[in-house]
Amino acid sequence: MLNVVVLVSGGGTNLQAVIDAVKDGNISNTKITGVISNNKNAYALERAKKSGIENLCISPKDFETREQFNEEFLKAVDDMEPDLIVLAGFLVVIPPKMIERYTNRIINIHPSLIPSFCGTGYYGIKVHEAALSRGVKVVGATVHFVDEGTDTGPIILQRAVNVEQDDTPEILQRRVMEQAEWKILPLAIDLIANGKVKVEDGKTVIL
Ligand code: GAR
Repeated sequence: MLNVVVLVSGGGTNLQAVIDAVKDGNISNTKITGVISNNKNAYALERAKKSGIENLCISPKDFETREQFNEEFLKAVDDMEPDLIVLAGFLVVIPPKMIERYTNRIINIHPSLIPSFCGTGYYGIKVHEAALSRGVKVVGATVHFVDEGTDTGPIILQRAVNVEQDDTPEILQRRVMEQAEWKILPLAIDLIANGKVKVEDGKTVIL
């Protein structure tokens, strides 16, 4: 059984997709053991509560230094004994010690086809604003392992989504979620839970 801890900052629609997929059996061999948010008002925490999943908030704002936060944050994650950590709209920089301890055991969902529209400053709606202002015709989402860079780790799954003529950033964001994110994040977890993802030379192989 794969023990999964999900880290969230906002609405938690990706978390919900994972909760639903575990419930429906679309993700097998998996238990969501906890949800952690940096934001006590994140609706994602409500979603966890409603599904009876252990949840807590730990915010950098409650600590004098980033080092103190990082230490407590790592402890909170360790206490939940995850086999896999899922970043589902988590907007805090992951402490280097956590990346080292959980190498190839942290995944992130990013709302673009990496390496387009990713890296520092590209998150949430900003990604879709940038895509529309560049005028690209195809966008999408990526699930990747997290390494020490920003959106640079090995890519696990990607799915493309068409841009429509009258899209606004909000409409495009919703389509990318519906057609890509909510599908490939649960799928990636299911593949990992069933031993089907291997990392070789900085790239993944799906078995
Ligand atoms: C999602 O679109 C996710 O891909 C994005 O934040 C949103 C969270 O929505 N993540 C990033 O931009 C990370 N760089 P949700 O809280 O409803 O799942």
